[in-house]
Amino acid sequence: MPDTKTLNDPVALGPLELRNRIVMAPMTRTYSPGNVPNAKVIEYYRRRAAGGVGLIVTEGTFIDHKAAIAYPNVPAFFGDEALAGWEKVVEAVHAEGGKIAPQIWHVGAIRKPGVNPGGDTPGYSPSGMVKPGKVTGHAMTQEDIDEVVAAFAKAAASAKEIGFDAVEIHGAHGYLIDQFFWDGTNVREDEYGGDLAHRSRFALEVVKAVRAAVGPDFPVIFRWSQWKQQDYSARLVETPEELEAFVQPLAEAGVDIFHCSTRRFWEPEFEGSDLNLAGWVKKLTGKPTVTVGSVGLNADFLPDDGTANFREAEPTGIDELVARVGRGEFDLVAVGRALIANPDWANRVLSGEYGDMRPYTKDMLMTLD
Ligand code: FNR
Repeated sequence: MPDTKTLNDPVALGPLELRNRIVMAPMTRTYSPGNVPNAKVIEYYRRRAAGGVGLIVTEGTFIDHKAAIAYPNVPAFFGDEALAGWEKVVEAVHAEGGKIAPQIWHVGAIRKPGVNPGGDTPGYSPSGMVKPGKVTGHAMTQEDIDEVVAAFAKAAASAKEIGFDAVEIHGAHGYLIDQFFWDGTNVREDEYGGDLAHRSRFALEVVKAVRAAVGPDFPVIFRWSQWKQQDYSARLVETPEELEAFVQPLAEAGVDIFHCSTRRFWEPEFEGSDLNLAGWVKKLTGKPTVTVGSVGLNADFLPDDGTANFREAEPTGIDELVARVGRGEFDLVAVGRALIANPDWANRVLSGEYGDMRPYTKDMLMTLD
């Protein structure tokens, strides 16, 4: 039985005070008819807070732009009805002693026309590409860029207004912000394209606008990944020096916490050190970081064939994870599928009752429990 004390340590990350180190990873569930989080969604998050999670990052929730959404029944993060639904989610989570941040999201060129809201609007992206060489959408103009930056800022302001504890910007997995970062999908010749410093310009504008909208004391989390859903082997940076040059400007623009998305948390990011991506970002920026990827499970979440069926997995031990938290490699640990399968995963881990965890199976996505 691993000693899970370190996972149970309360932590104050600036103004964000958490009862333990366990985070619910953002997971799209498409159970919000009319794009409004309803009573079932409120109960789904309440159960995870009651189950002991310190911080919930909600499923991706789309900002107020006509091309921000890719899938039906994803919750919106604008409009009175959707925000009233979210406010109830916040109240339910707080009543169970948990903290919560919305993950604000624009899908970029992953969008296909026909998904509502948005109607016939095509995908919007830096160069109209959903993957290298494949133009399916609209290459964003300066006006489009300004609109989307403003929509991110508006969403962040709403998060603060309705009582969320932090906001997470979705900059990962090959969606819009990552389409700007990635040279495979950004071939612009203006100041938003070129080397990684220029391809980061859009993200930096988003972070600065979000920071300006929420003020200095509201925590801003930034999720990013090397891998893309369009190409699992893609990388934005190859060395610690490149990583530092990439993350430092984001930290200076206003990111408080980096959520470093990997598929297997135990993998070293660069040769010659055991540190994973979250470990390196913490070391290079001095900012708190969140790790993620197959925590408590024996297989990562993406099948190699690229299908969107999130991979089934069996429970495993967490000794390696606990040891890394104990060494201070990263501050927080996000858990995805294991928390869909076991809403009380956190309490069970923290109380040492680790046995009998349920495996994660695909049919669990067919309901919202
Ligand atoms: C995800 N993931 C994800 N990531 C994200 O940033 N925003 C999202 O909306 C989603 N949606 C989503 C849905 C489902 C059903 C799954 C399984 C995953 C990725 C997720 O946050 C996490 O990084 C991975 O699931 C890896 O963690 P686990 O499942 O291995 O603990």
